[in-house]
Amino acid sequence: MIEGKKVALYVTGGIAVYKVVDLMRELIKHGAVVRVAMTKSASEFVSPLTFQVLSKHAVYTNTFAEDDPSVVNHINLADWADFSVIAPLTANTLAKLANGIADNFVTSALLATTNPIFAVPAMNENMYTNTVTQENIDRLKLRNYMIMTPDVGFLAEGYSGQGRYPEKERIIHEFESFIRSHSDQLPLKGKRVVVTAGGTKERIDPVRYISNDSSGKMGHALAVEAWKKGADVVLVSASHLESPSYINRVVVESARDMHDAVLKEFDQTDAVIMAAAVSDYSPDKMEEQKMKKKDELTLHFKKNPDILKDLGQKKRDDQTLIGFAAETEELLHYAEKKLNAKNADLIVANQVGEKDRGFNVDKNEVTLLSRNHPPRTISLREKSEVSVEIIEWLINFMN
Ligand SMILES: Cc1cc2nc3c(=O)[nH]c(=O)nc-3n(C[C@H](O)[C@H](O)[C@H](O)COP(=O)(O)O)c2cc1C
Repeated sequence: MIEGKKVALYVTGGIAVYKVVDLMRELIKHGAVVRVAMTKSASEFVSPLTFQVLSKHAVYTNTFAEDDPSVVNHINLADWADFSVIAPLTANTLAKLANGIADNFVTSALLATTNPIFAVPAMNENMYTNTVTQENIDRLKLRNYMIMTPDVGFLAEGYSGQGRYPEKERIIHEFESFIRSHSDQLPLKGKRVVVTAGGTKERIDPVRYISNDSSGKMGHALAVEAWKKGADVVLVSASHLESPSYINRVVVESARDMHDAVLKEFDQTDAVIMAAAVSDYSPDKMEEQKMKKKDELTLHFKKNPDILKDLGQKKRDDQTLIGFAAETEELLHYAEKKLNAKNADLIVANQVGEKDRGFNVDKNEVTLLSRNHPPRTISLREKSEVSVEIIEWLINFMN
């Protein structure tokens, strides 16, 4: 989402300036090209040199330092950027922006900005809740501004309150969401995609269960990638991993829960990606109390519903079904069988039981099997990169 975007980063004088150094690095890591402008107060907290070295570009601090006669710097920066980010945004600069004041480089450039502006206010709680600050926020929200709600938490003043600069992850997620809301040519726009993730847990008693090694990383990466391509995503997850706030998540535990959750969504869904490792069996009864130690224990299992098979039977022509085949042997043979037996459109075959790929690690190597096409192997790489390929396949198939 952020990759390739030109981002003008405006830094104003709050105590959180030091955290913005890390935010800038994160934006760069996500592939953004970043140019920084700072107020005089901001450079009291962190030297512009820090931002200069890390962004590999001069930092704008002075409206009248016009070193290049062919441009006016503050207008040039405003015009250059695809998106503007103000972090942290002080109560003072917020008030100036709400009133069209342009008395330094930052406020002058922002008054000349026509691209979407994403702001991260951070300040003392009384400053934040002051009606004048709230009125200023409301005025800017009516223009091209998205203003984040600060966190509630420990403030620099030594007590807890609202106004805290949010965690970097939250800022990045909300910024990605903001960029997406301004992109109208995304290939999965208007499509609804359900992704399942994680290893289901089959309860033996209230504190014990049977599960498998799946972490949910592959499913979560697929959900994020489908969302980035514009889809409305429902992530049905049995994983303990967190997911971005923009992903609509249904928390499930057992195979039966997952079956019910996915089937409930299916009619109004364009594509289902079954990346979860669903247990084939569950104990035929769950003990109500924690089981006591005995000399021997025999558990009886019953077969769980086959979610992929049920979806394959119900599937309409306008729906796409993607399954995963995790095998320790004869991978392609079993995957091919699964493709036909389950009426899937694609099977993503992956070898499990190895240390560097598959369950519970960050990387995977998979082979894509679909009808009328030779198998295509995606060599070992990050699961986020594998998910790009799988979603690309889905986009091509749906078109
Ligand atoms: C130690 C210290 C911390 C400050 N932290 C904040 C802050 O977090 N948020 C804020 O709005 N103002 C904060 N201020 C006040 C601003 O620095 C002050 O309002 C300044 O005029 C803002 O200038 P600027 O908006 O041009 O950057 C702080 C001031 C000091 C001395």
